[in-house]
Amino acid sequence: MSDQIVMTRRMRLEPLAPRHGPELESFARLWEVARYTATIPHPYPSGGGTAYAEAVAYDWRHSGDRNWAVIDKATGRVVGTGGLDQSLDRRSMEVGYMFAPWVWGKGYATEVSRALVDHAFRMLGADEVTAYASVQNRASCHVLTRAGLRRIGNAWYYAPPRGHVVTAEAYRLTRREWSS
Ligand SMILES: CC(C)(COP(=O)(O)OP(=O)(O)OC[C@H]1O[C@@H](n2cnc3c(N)ncnc32)[C@H](O)[C@@H]1OP(=O)(O)O)[C@@H](O)C(=O)NCCC(=O)NCCS
Repeated sequence: MSDQIVMTRRMRLEPLAPRHGPELESFARLWEVARYTATIPHPYPSGGGTAYAEAVAYDWRHSGDRNWAVIDKATGRVVGTGGLDQSLDRRSMEVGYMFAPWVWGKGYATEVSRALVDHAFRMLGADEVTAYASVQNRASCHVLTRAGLRRIGNAWYYAPPRGHVVTAEAYRLTRREWSS
């Protein structure tokens, strides 16, 4: 694993770039994908996938936030995104992901989140990995548990595109827990 490319058994993660934009948009624009997220707009603006990828590329250069396009090795198609956002003190990384509905239920999110947790500790020197998922998003809460994170309580955050506060389950895995 390099600092930028992350490989899993079925997927290759490469830094999200404008060339991934149209494929990303094909699923980010769907309500079932945006529904429980705090940031994906709905309706999704035309060209929004490429604009988002440009912003991600900027963040990658100028902040500690990283977001990957998830490529299905078998088809070469972009089937999702996965990210690690760094806290201001650089100790903590927040993992996040989304996948196209046509690949849901195949264990892809579990496989990718495990790889990103590993990457955060092994390659990026994180002291802890955190994650948040809407309490209504049972599949995502389940994925986080399967990735080895431990539920530590609830959190509340404002989701601008939804126009309301989201009640989320908060998860954490410390470096000590990960290495034991
Ligand atoms: C949430 C999401 C990432 C899951 O992706 P996925 O690739 O289908 O996830 P996986 O196949 O790895 O695992 C899903 C697990 O949740 C379980 N699950 C699915 N729906 C569930 C539900 N309603 N209640 C409880 N568990 C559920 C599955 O059975 C599976 O567990 P298992 O492997 O033990 O059987 C995907 O639905 C998605 O991209 N949603 C839209 C974006 C999003 O919500 N992102 C997360 C924001 S926090």
